Amino acid sequence: PALDKSAMIEAETLAALAEEEVGCARCPLYKNATQVVPGEGPPQARVMLIGEQPGDQEDLAGRPFVGPAGKLLDIALARAGVAREICFVTNAVKHFKFEPRGKRRLHKKPDAGEIDACRWWLDRERALLRPGLIVALGATAIRGALGRSEAVSRLRGEFIELEDGAQFLATVHPSSLLRLKDESDKRQAWRGFLADLRKIASWIE
Ligand code: URA
Repeated sequence: PALDKSAMIEAETLAALAEEEVGCARCPLYKNATQVVPGEGPPQARVMLIGEQPGDQEDLAGRPFVGPAGKLLDIALARAGVAREICFVTNAVKHFKFEPRGKRRLHKKPDAGEIDACRWWLDRERALLRPGLIVALGATAIRGALGRSEAVSRLRGEFIELEDGAQFLATVHPSSLLRLKDESDKRQAWRGFLADLRKIASWIE
């Protein structure tokens, strides 16, 4: 699906858009989350990084990728030669979806309906930012960016030109690395992730 053109006559800046997101009730996730977590980064960023949804720490901080997955992403980006500060970092879904378990809040994957409802915001962030490169971290981000589900394994590491002329690159979500137990699986996944992220560095040059 094409970008939603009506986006362009609504909020005129990313900051105004972030304020609009505060009132979002486009799906039920706002009811249990602490707050919305809008995308963050310089309005002139050429690269947009899309994650899945805020986690526990992001929900409390109101900022994307500040928890364990974010710390790993920061290390990986730095290793790959990409400064996070020059990227616009956002999520496909902007409220934390979780299941209470005692004192903890366990992350739950957003479903297709929630991802599609939240494209309203992602498309508007894209329309305002007009990034030259869109990087999807994991399957939820792929669906948010493309409007359809595709396996990470089928798309990862390859540049795809989108209808609006932007380049699209998919890779794994950093939390998939955190879940691996076996040391050699971890090393291999880390190398693969860095190889994908280095493509961002080459694109920027
Ligand atoms: N995982 C995500 O996908 N996004 C965040 O902001 C944090 C963790």
